[in-house]
Amino acid sequence: MFRLEGRALIFGSKGGIGSAFNDYLCDKLGRENVISFSRSEQDFEITDEKSLEEIASKTFGPFRLIINSTGVLDTSGFGPEKTINSIRKDTMLEVMSINAIGPALLLKHFSKKLDRESLSIFVNLSARVGSIEDNKLGGWITYRASKAALNQIIKTASIEIQRKNNNAICIGLHPGTVKTQFTKNYHNRVESVSAERSVDMLMSVLQRIKYADNGQVFAYDGSVIPW
Ligand SMILES: NC(=O)c1ccc[n+]([C@@H]2O[C@H](COP(=O)([O-])OP(=O)(O)OC[C@H]3O[C@@H](n4cnc5c(N)ncnc54)[C@H](OP(=O)(O)O)[C@@H]3O)[C@@H](O)[C@H]2O)c1
Repeated sequence: MFRLEGRALIFGSKGGIGSAFNDYLCDKLGRENVISFSRSEQDFEITDEKSLEEIASKTFGPFRLIINSTGVLDTSGFGPEKTINSIRKDTMLEVMSINAIGPALLLKHFSKKLDRESLSIFVNLSARVGSIEDNKLGGWITYRASKAALNQIIKTASIEIQRKNNNAICIGLHPGTVKTQFTKNYHNRVESVSAERSVDMLMSVLQRIKYADNGQVFAYDGSVIPW
């Protein structure tokens, strides 16, 4: 089982869920044991590998927990697509770059900083709508595809990460529908929870994670999200 101790690293620490993770971890581990990066404060740009290499060269592990809480729903300004007729190539490239390629680069540069002494976890925030099997409604093709790609990246990387460090695993977490900037256009339409509540639930899920869970995507209630 995962034990929350040691040091933690957070990417996207100024986002809604990222800042709730930051507060939670600073409270439990001590501020000095939490290193956090955000676009506004540390020039962290997930789509720019040079920026990630620079951060990686100055960030010394080991970390018991690494959390990537960055992500976008849409970059077009028109909202996620309701029909395939609304697909825009540039938006699709941008969203893929932030939601899938960026996390792959983080895994490349930071998974080697996971603790070797006891179970350590690299978490990427994913989404239930990235599940191909669970897709009953259609729509949101770019966002769904970016999270499905992220899930494949998590699964593939997880096998290699554990092979290289048998105490390290990599998983995805779906936070539920959370009241943040991300969902600002949906707050009145769907039931949502606060970022603090979501992080409390996600941290309870994390504290039940075992080695055998490597590569899976879990929802805030601990259930496994199907591929
Ligand atoms: N909220 C929900 O209901 C919900 C549901 C399912 C999944 N999720 C997932 O949870 C994660 C966090 O969502 P959230 O609700 O906390 O959203 P949020 O409040 O909008 O935070 C997203 C964070 O991503 C950062 N970011 C975006 N593009 C970036 C880039 N190019 N380089 C570096 N950082 C970048 C933002 O930085 P700035 O602050 O600088 O803009 C922000 O800190 C996302 O992956 C999202 O897909 C959220």
